[in-house]
Amino acid sequence: MTGRSAPRHPISRRQALGLLGLGAAAVTAGATGWATLGVSDTTRTASVLPSGEPLGLPPELASRQGQLAVDLTAAPGASLAGRPASAWGYNGSSPGPTLRLRPGDELAVRLRNGLDQPTNLHTHGLRVSPEGNSDNPFIHIAPGETFDYRIAIPDSHPPGTFWYHPHAHGYVADQLLAGLAGALIVDDAPEPAVAAERVLLITDTTLDTGGPAATDPATRMVGRQGELLLLNGQHQPVIPAASGDLQRWRLINATTSRTLNLHLDAHPLTRIAFDGITLPTASGVDTVQLAPGNRADVLVRPDRPGTFPLTASTEPRRAMGMMGGPAVGGETEVLATLTTGGPARAPSALPTFPPGPAPDAGATTGARRLTFTMGMGGGMGPGGTGSGGQGMSFGFDGRAYDPLRTDQTVALGAVEEWTVTNPTPMAHPFHLHVWPFEVLADSAGTPTTGTSQDVVLVPAGGWVRLRIPFTVLPGRSVYHCHIFDHEDAGMMGTIAVS
Ligand code: C2O
Ligand code: CU
Ligand code: CU
Repeated sequence: MTGRSAPRHPISRRQALGLLGLGAAAVTAGATGWATLGVSDTTRTASVLPSGEPLGLPPELASRQGQLAVDLTAAPGASLAGRPASAWGYNGSSPGPTLRLRPGDELAVRLRNGLDQPTNLHTHGLRVSPEGNSDNPFIHIAPGETFDYRIAIPDSHPPGTFWYHPHAHGYVADQLLAGLAGALIVDDAPEPAVAAERVLLITDTTLDTGGPAATDPATRMVGRQGELLLLNGQHQPVIPAASGDLQRWRLINATTSRTLNLHLDAHPLTRIAFDGITLPTASGVDTVQLAPGNRADVLVRPDRPGTFPLTASTEPRRAMGMMGGPAVGGETEVLATLTTGGPARAPSALPTFPPGPAPDAGATTGARRLTFTMGMGGGMGPGGTGSGGQGMSFGFDGRAYDPLRTDQTVALGAVEEWTVTNPTPMAHPFHLHVWPFEVLADSAGTPTTGTSQDVVLVPAGGWVRLRIPFTVLPGRSVYHCHIFDHEDAGMMGTIAVS
């Protein structure tokens, strides 16, 4: 079985990461590298990438007459914050272009692989077929090859914020850390007007300044994180606004490992959508938590001139108690600054956004239980391919990912209750493709949203209970941990709905 899986790390870490060598002139700091992972040193990082520049938006490509036909080339050499860099991007840009579609459209992507390793394309959160040349995670596109995706967006698809990223097992964390991600927006009938709508795609990366390569298995154990937290590829940009403006921010957590708590100084964030689904009621919150893969749409209504930091606190991740290793995360960093001009003005009225589809209310037809596996040693059962480094095993239910094995077989039309348990010492973001779920409860007592989502954080030593309608879109796809070092090491399973 081992022989049939994709080779895990056939090229050197340095080569695979190729992380963002900026031109020599831009690199004024000393060697950084992975030894300082988890340490927030803003004075050093600020000297490497400029901060305080106006926020830019990724280029946008919108569908016309029912189709968005786009050529995307995944390749190194993408610019970063307007500087030539060796980030990996789509069409020379990291993040890649924002793809804007409408329900009923066809997304036709010709993806060219300009990397030296396999890649592919996943449309995270879209309720589209996983079959053939649609959102099929089992496709691997070899270096130098192109592949034509044809993804039909159903007429009934809810409008919202989604995203795309590579999904070639064994390579995803490296490719995401190097910059391959983009926003994907589904637009519907006119929504309330806003003064500004901004895609805010969050990634993290580490500048390659000659530091040691990221081969440390203990760091992979908790999931690598880049030293620099970036917003649309920029370090601490300025988001301009006028008092009284109504801004809609489409926040996307495209980091490989970080669960982020976002907070805007002196302003509530009015949460209107989560994971692309408009909530039944908007609510002002102090903090929005996004696990890797999650999105939130928030309204921001500044009412006075000033400078207000948008901060991101990274939840600590520890694999302690099990096999030791570093504790990573825990830092609070400035992601951007909202700078408001003009005289103080009353905040704009809160508009009403048409609520997204309610979760399927049909009777539950079945239940199953899934358990995260993370442990010492290579003994993962017959699959046995889950070793992401010396002495680590990642999977579900004691087995590492095997693309040729089907782990869950579900009848089309079923509505299932899944209990996902996590006996490991760290939280894992659970993600299921194609079929969004309603979170019924979790062991931490987190209030539920009453809407569907596609990533949920499963607390360490805890569980979540999900309700999943498998009523549409037959096909075979995957579920996995959205900490991609874990997924690449085997924490992924397959599901067939027929
Ligand atoms: Cu965003 Cu299978 O992933
Ligand atoms: Cu996904
Ligand atoms: Cu995980």
